[in-house]
Amino acid sequence: MAVSDELTEELLELMRRCGYSEKVIEYFKKKVNMGRMEDADWVSEHTGSCGDVLQIFLKINNGVIEDAKFLYIGCPGVGASASVITEMVKKKALEEAKKITEKDVLENLGGLPESKLDCVKLTVTAMRRTIAEYMALGHPT
Ligand code: FES
Repeated sequence: MAVSDELTEELLELMRRCGYSEKVIEYFKKKVNMGRMEDADWVSEHTGSCGDVLQIFLKINNGVIEDAKFLYIGCPGVGASASVITEMVKKKALEEAKKITEKDVLENLGGLPESKLDCVKLTVTAMRRTIAEYMALGHPT
């Protein structure tokens, strides 16, 4: 096993001990929807009270989110939450996507450790603001 693989396994084991669910760990490992979107229609960056930064990219067609991606600097909680919410908004109308709640994201994540609930708050707030910014410019909704 390479050194980086050992470190990854150690990190995943640490996440388990910290109370992260296997579902969260899977999202963290696979980095679902993580990456830059070169042809995004809207990009927005948000900083949480903890200082973590989440950047959201949306591809929108006629008021419907066709694709969503993200980049972040922060904890596994925000990374996994962003993976989940970018999956949840795809093929949804903007108004509908804005209604996704912290509870919805937590259910799809299989929960998060109590101390990490603010990570979901950052993710949901960031997604709502990103959509609101786009809508405020008078794009079709
Ligand atoms: Fe900052 Fe998770 S600790 S978002």
